[in-house]
Amino acid sequence: MKTLPDGVRYIPEALDRTAQTALLQDVRGVVAQAPLYTPHMPRTGKPMSVRMTNCGPLGWVTDKENGYRYQPTHPTTGEPWPTMPKSLLDLWSRYAEWTDPPEACLINFYTDAARMGLHQDRDEEEARAPVLSISLGDTAIFRVGAADGGRTCSFRLSSGDIVILGGEGRMARHGVDRIIPGSSSLLKGGGRLNLTLRRVTKSA
Ligand code: SIN
Ligand code: FE2
Repeated sequence: MKTLPDGVRYIPEALDRTAQTALLQDVRGVVAQAPLYTPHMPRTGKPMSVRMTNCGPLGWVTDKENGYRYQPTHPTTGEPWPTMPKSLLDLWSRYAEWTDPPEACLINFYTDAARMGLHQDRDEEEARAPVLSISLGDTAIFRVGAADGGRTCSFRLSSGDIVILGGEGRMARHGVDRIIPGSSSLLKGGGRLNLTLRRVTKSA
């Protein structure tokens, strides 16, 4: 077992296949209302390789003009984000150790060539609450390192695994080096979904 930065928890097989299938159904329901779209980096306007959508009262978005932020509506449809499915609220209650419910669930979809550079989640006002991340579909090579620099380590995140960045690990640097194509049969067309639940506004 690798030594993870303090405050980073890895929970392999948190969801069994039945729970993964049920959650996937819920995600499909969200995507039917709030389609996946290609986000663009601040300033450069470079397209990201992952496609995204959100559910919950707030969603994380990025574009060339206004950069990283949370907003209550989908950037292309202009509609409010779909409500957060109960399955996700239940996972938060079970694992997050934070009383207030999550306000945002960012849904990232990775095709075979998609990746995500090393970054910190720092667009939330409430940085005391954890970030809870759920993986579905193909396996990812996930990379993580402490907030203040130093070495990073990588490990495989498989369908049904959960990672929690909380406490001292809340600002851990993390990213996805690559996806292992064909490693899961959960998504019919292949690929990986990652769901990140976050608290955005300050809890009392
Ligand atoms: C993210 O940091 O937004 C996604 C991480 C992941 O895909 O596991
Ligand atoms: Fe992140």
